[in-house]
Amino acid sequence: MLVSALERLCSGCRRGVDGTAGGGGHVAVLVKAGLAVLAIDRDEEAVAATRSRFAGDDVTVLHGRFADAAVRRDIVRFRPDFAVLDLGVSSLQLDADRRGFSLRRGIALDMRMDPRQPDTAADFLAEISENELTRVFREFGDERRAAALAREVIRRRADRPLATSDDLVNAIRAVLGPRSGTPDFARLFQAVRIAVNEELSELQVGLPAIRDALAPGGTLVVLTYHSGEDRIVKHAFRDWARSCVCPPSQPVCACRGEPLGRVMTKKPTRPTVEEIAENPRARSAKLRAFRMT
Ligand SMILES: C[S@@+](CC[C@H](N)C(=O)[O-])C[C@H]1O[C@@H](n2cnc3c(N)ncnc32)[C@H](O)[C@@H]1O
Repeated sequence: MLVSALERLCSGCRRGVDGTAGGGGHVAVLVKAGLAVLAIDRDEEAVAATRSRFAGDDVTVLHGRFADAAVRRDIVRFRPDFAVLDLGVSSLQLDADRRGFSLRRGIALDMRMDPRQPDTAADFLAEISENELTRVFREFGDERRAAALAREVIRRRADRPLATSDDLVNAIRAVLGPRSGTPDFARLFQAVRIAVNEELSELQVGLPAIRDALAPGGTLVVLTYHSGEDRIVKHAFRDWARSCVCPPSQPVCACRGEPLGRVMTKKPTRPTVEEIAENPRARSAKLRAFRMT
């Protein structure tokens, strides 16, 4: 259904941007729908795979972050009438132990989507302050015991740096107790990953930039996997669809604003049971779409 939603929303379009190309699944949908594609990924392995998979097609592949200024200029020049962001990590990244995203045992904590970035997850855990780590576990990991967990990490790293997946799992288990399990570890590893890759600030900058690059009538589709990401997208789309952007304290509208467009998904589109069976990682996906006037 996510793919069919994508097909439905890009029908009639001619130039599509995929800001998170990953394994190229969505690029393939856009190519099949007849669009010229600008594909972007911050991971050079994804870029190389996409370049070779679509070598004979009208697909240009850029290595970079979709919110990066140089990439944004290229998106503006491309003037898309369709854009998609499929946030988070790809299966290519999660499945490769050397990339250090996994909960599997004995994996070096890396989690950088772009390995040119200087700080790995291990560096992040070695350097971050207790307050900031508490915020990461609370806001990105929805963790009730965030402060205790941050304290535990700081206490452990004074003896020995947290270098592997086991080190982080053991710290989590020490605070959440022996009944904690894979869903807890996955949620808290995800929180660290979001912080290491600055994923939410990337989204906050990238969303309006991509919107402004769209041709009139163009559509932006975003797939999220985390409540923090989804909140940013939901609020951005709602704000863009408002006709008045005056502060709530102002009794009478003075901006005479026009909506920038309309939200195409009142409720987010969710994957079907079949899609989840085929790809269990899609289970938390939410798709939202916005169409410019
Ligand atoms: C969920 S995967 C995309 C999967 C893809 N839609 C497919 O069909 O195979 C997310 C991809 O987005 C990339 N990514 C995440 N944040 C990014 C950003 N800010 N700029 C560029 N690429 C990003 C990741 O490196 C990863 O390859």
